[in-house]
Amino acid sequence: MTARIVVLASGNGSNFQALVDASEAGTLDASVVGLVCNRSDAFALERASVKGVPTTVLTPEPGEPRPTYDARLAAVVGAMAPDLIVLAGWMRLLSMPFLGRFPHRVINLHPALPGQFPGTHAIEHALDAAVLGEIDHTGVMVHFVPDDGVDDGPAIATAIVPIEPGDTIDTLSERVHAVERTLLVSALRETISDAPWRAGPGSS
Ligand code: GAR
Repeated sequence: MTARIVVLASGNGSNFQALVDASEAGTLDASVVGLVCNRSDAFALERASVKGVPTTVLTPEPGEPRPTYDARLAAVVGAMAPDLIVLAGWMRLLSMPFLGRFPHRVINLHPALPGQFPGTHAIEHALDAAVLGEIDHTGVMVHFVPDDGVDDGPAIATAIVPIEPGDTIDTLSERVHAVERTLLVSALRETISDAPWRAGPGSS
């Protein structure tokens, strides 16, 4: 059964693009049935338009409590009947009014290894640590999001990314992003073949 994937993204959308490309190429048994962005200026929206993927922009209201926004988000995403929801550069924390509705179905991509550099600017933090001589590599992980922990949850796949002497934020970011696009697709391929969400209570 082809998996229905909904992607949540806030920015560039290169990983959204990788999922759409792999689905179209038949290397991932999936269909990206929707893209939801929390920002109307997210470049991911333009990528979706080119590919004909339906989009929704859901901007938080000024002062809107997180659980209220997340309940609205859950309604929008639930209407798309996703098998899996992929956070691909989704730069908002999600709370239980969203996550509780989609157990075993929410997957996050993060540009660091488990337990290292959660939150924003993970690649910058890794480069800073390398300059201090504390680390010589960083990495990428794809993991389930069972609760409101930040870039935390059971790992599906990880990959190490070396930090080279003389790396700048641009060279390291490029190396990390190249690994991310491959790892995200392969992790989803594994998840879809294992199909853990089919044991769950459903998405609607
Ligand atoms: C990726 O590097 C992803 O790992 C990161 O945002 C970038 C999105 O790139 N996510 C996080 O940092 C989550 N904490 P993209 O918009 O080109 O897919």
